[in-house]
Amino acid sequence: MACGIVAVATEPGRLGKALGRVIRDSLKYLEYRGYDSVGFALITNEGELVIRKSKGMLDLVEAKLGFSYYDGLVGIGHTRWATHGAPSDINSHPHTDCKGSVAVAHNGIIENYLSLKEELLRRGHTFTSETDTEVVPHLMEEFKKLGLTPYEAFKKAVSMLRGAYALVAIDLDERDKVFFAKGTSPLIVGFGSGFNFLASDIPAFLRYTNRVLVLMDGEVGYITSRGVVVERLRASDGGFTTSIATSEPVDFTWRVKVIDWTPEMAMKGGYPHFMLKEIHEQPEALTLTLSGLVGISEKVVPILARADKVLVVGAGTSYHASLIGSLLFNNLAELWSSAMISSEARWYLRSVGDNDVVIAVSQSGETIDTLLAVREAKRRGAIVIALSNVVDSAIPRESDLSIYMRAGPEIGVAATKTFTAQVAVLTYLAAKAGERRGVINGKYLDGVVGDLRRAPSLISRVISVYEGRIRRIAGMLASKQSAFYLGRGLGLPVSMEGALKLKEVAYIHAEAYPAGESKHGPIALIEEGFPVVFTSLGREDGELLKSNIEEMKARYAWIIAVTPKGSEEITKLVDDVFEMPPMKYEASPVVYIVPYQLLAYYTAVSKGYDPDKPRNLAKTVTVV
Ligand code: AGP
Repeated sequence: MACGIVAVATEPGRLGKALGRVIRDSLKYLEYRGYDSVGFALITNEGELVIRKSKGMLDLVEAKLGFSYYDGLVGIGHTRWATHGAPSDINSHPHTDCKGSVAVAHNGIIENYLSLKEELLRRGHTFTSETDTEVVPHLMEEFKKLGLTPYEAFKKAVSMLRGAYALVAIDLDERDKVFFAKGTSPLIVGFGSGFNFLASDIPAFLRYTNRVLVLMDGEVGYITSRGVVVERLRASDGGFTTSIATSEPVDFTWRVKVIDWTPEMAMKGGYPHFMLKEIHEQPEALTLTLSGLVGISEKVVPILARADKVLVVGAGTSYHASLIGSLLFNNLAELWSSAMISSEARWYLRSVGDNDVVIAVSQSGETIDTLLAVREAKRRGAIVIALSNVVDSAIPRESDLSIYMRAGPEIGVAATKTFTAQVAVLTYLAAKAGERRGVINGKYLDGVVGDLRRAPSLISRVISVYEGRIRRIAGMLASKQSAFYLGRGLGLPVSMEGALKLKEVAYIHAEAYPAGESKHGPIALIEEGFPVVFTSLGREDGELLKSNIEEMKARYAWIIAVTPKGSEEITKLVDDVFEMPPMKYEASPVVYIVPYQLLAYYTAVSKGYDPDKPRNLAKTVTVV
C-alpha cells in the first residue's frame, strides 16, 4: 500500500527495451496506490549511478526528466506517498549516501530514524531530505566504511531499523544486485528468465512474469539477473560496530506461485473489489498508523491536555470517528468535548476561543465542509489539529498541527480502513491526554494502548472466522428494505458507521439510534422479520441492551448482535450473533466495526451492486 516500489535486475537486452523504460512502465501499474512524487535510480552500462526524481505525476515527471532513455542492468523506481516530509523533489525517493554510490527506495515508516540520524550526523554524514528513509543509504555507507561488504552493510542497516518497511537498494560497489528487505510493508519477487523483479504489487511486473514469491516479514536478500537469494535476518544489530547482522538461508522454492490474474485483478490484490481489499488491509494499515503516532503525540497531547474544550469535527464516516473521539476525551481525560458534523459546525463554533482545540477529521483532507469549519475555528483563535490520510492536503495545510493516519490510499468510495485508523488515533490521543491529566493511571493507559496494538491481529481473526457467515447473512439482508442499528455509549457511533456503510453500498435504508431511545418512537416500525442489529462493546452495555433486545424480540424482529464473547445473556436472545474478542471497552470500536463493513459489502454484492462505485457518491466532496 501507499508508496510503490519496483526493482529490476536483467541481462542486457532481455526485456526488449531500455531499463529506464521498463521501470517507468512498471510504475504506471502502481499509480492506483496513490502518490505525489516519482523517482528512479539505475546503474548505467558505463557504471554511473543515475538518480532522477521529482514531485508530480509519472507522465509529467517523465517528460521533465526523461528517465526512460537510460539503460543498465539494475535499477529501482518509486512512487512516493508522503509520510515524513512534504511532497518535494528533495524528499522524493530514491535517496543516496554522501558519496552518491548507494540508492535506496522505501515504503513504510522507520520509527527510530531520528536517533539513527543523530548518530549519523555525529559521525559526519550530511542529509539532504527530511525523510526517514535517508538514514538507510547513510547507514550502508557507514558500515562499508567500517569494512563490511555492500550486502553485509545493507543487512546491518536493516537490522537497526524499527517500524515498517519494504526496502530496495542498489550500490555501485556491487553492480549486479538489488538488495531488498521486508518488514510489514509488502514486497513481492517476480521470477523471469534472464531477469528478476521486485515490486510492491504484482501488476508492476505481470507483463513479464507471473511466477511470484510474496516475501515474509524479516526476510532480506538480493536479486540478480540470474537468481534470487532470500535469507531470514536475525534480530540483533550490534549497534554502530563492525559486528555482522547474522542471517540464515530461506528455502522459498515451495512458496513460488504461478498466478493467472489479469492486471486489473492484480491491482485489487486478487480481491473482486477495492472495498473488500481495504477491509482486509486493515491489520496492516493499523500497524502503520500506530507506529507513526509516538512522535507526533508528544507534540499534540500536551496541547490537548491543557485545553478548555476539545471539539472534534468531521463529515460522514469521519464524523462517526469524531463521535468516538469526543466520547473518549470526556471519559478518559475528563475534557469537555463534543463532536460536530462539519457542515453544521458553524452554529457551534461561536463559543470557541484561544484555550480550545478543534480536531478536524478528514480522510481526504479536502472535504470543503470540514475545511470551512477549520477556517472558522482558526478565525476564533482555537488551535486546530488536522487528522488526515493525505499529506499536505488542504485541511492539514491550513491547520496548526497535523496528524497523518498513514493508512495507505483508500480507493473504495466507502471509507473502511481510514475509519479504523481515525478511531485508533483518537483513542490513543484521548488515553494519553487522560494519563497526562491524571484521570487514568499508567496501567490503564497501557491496557488501552496494548489493546489498540492487538487490534491488527484481532481484526485478522474476526475476518477469518466470520467472513463466510457474514456472507450468508448478507444474502438474507439483501431482500430487506430497512434496518435498525442500535447501540449505547461507544456502541452508538459504531452502529451509526455500520448503518452508513449499508446505506452507501447496499442502498438499504438503515437507521442508527441510541438503543435506549428506540422505545420512544422508532419501535413503531418494527414488524416480523425487521432487521435490528445491536452493538454491545462490553458486559455493561450488554446488561442495558438486554431489555432493548427483549422489546424487539417481542415484536418478532430479526435480531443480529455484535457482542463480546461470553455475553451469554445476549447470545441466547438473538437470532444471529458475532462473538467478538473481549477487549478494553475504549479500544473495542476499532475491531467491532469490522463485521458491519463486511455485512454491507456482501449485501451490496449479493444485490448485484458495485460497492466501489456507489451511485451518487464521490470519494472527496468539495462542494458545500
Ligand atoms: C464514507 O464512507 C463516505 N464516503 C463519506 O461519508 C466520507 O466519510 C465523508 O465524505 C468525509 O470524507 P473525508 O473523511 O474525506 O472528509
